[in-house]
Amino acid sequence: MNDAFLLFFKGLARHAPSTEEATLRALASCQPRPDAPQIADMGCGTGASALVLLDALPDAALLAVDPIEQSLQTLQERAERRETSDRLTTLAGDALALSQGPFDIIWAEGSIYAMGWDKALQAWQQNLQDGGFIVVSDAVWTADRIPNMAKRYWGAEYPDMTTASARIAQVQDLGWTVVEDFEMPREGWDLYYGPLEQRVALLENKGRPSGSMRAVVDEVSKEIAMYRTLGHTWNYHFFVLQR
Ligand SMILES: C[S@@+](CC[C@H](N)C(=O)[O-])C[C@H]1O[C@@H](n2cnc3c(N)ncnc32)[C@H](O)[C@@H]1O
Repeated sequence: MNDAFLLFFKGLARHAPSTEEATLRALASCQPRPDAPQIADMGCGTGASALVLLDALPDAALLAVDPIEQSLQTLQERAERRETSDRLTTLAGDALALSQGPFDIIWAEGSIYAMGWDKALQAWQQNLQDGGFIVVSDAVWTADRIPNMAKRYWGAEYPDMTTASARIAQVQDLGWTVVEDFEMPREGWDLYYGPLEQRVALLENKGRPSGSMRAVVDEVSKEIAMYRTLGHTWNYHFFVLQR
């Protein structure tokens, strides 16, 4: 991520679409689990899911992993304000090269696309407790017919994007059981894109951004416009996996 991207996303509470209810619904299907579970949040960003999990599970300990120090700093500050930072450890690094564990739950909302499903599941199997769960959310196609413009856009941004049923078949072939899967409520896009739109408006009002910040503003605006016109053909989907 370049400096302009870091600046644009600085302090934002969500770096991917989701809702607190969706996070809690996925957590509810991680049963049975210990009373004091060890959790790893892979690609935690600024803590959209980590903070919900720490609030929901008062005896849990959570390792939050992300290569971006700025995001970890924001997460740390947010956890301090909620008085859950004593159960949080942050780690700046690659979630595919983690020696820590075993974890009862590995969480990865909106981050597995950056690592690749096969690679991530193979790596995380080593970090997972027997009987433990992996919770992932990712973009999937939801329509039978995908408009060419959407295909072209996501073909460049996320060539591995597929349908939920194809993803389920893929993980089953890899030896995983899908304990639960569900579509994210559409509200999750507004919770993500709303603050991004406000930031774009703020930057445009302050004086038109130029250079690398212009490129970021254009890229973010393009993604949001694409969603507003064709987003009914894709959505985020949650998958709860067990070995
Ligand atoms: C779209 S953001 C989602 C962040 C957060 N889970 C959320 O829902 O707001 C994806 C995150 O994955 C992180 N990421 C990408 N590759 C990673 C890797 N190999 N190991 C750990 N985190 C990674 C990025 O830095 C980014 O913070």
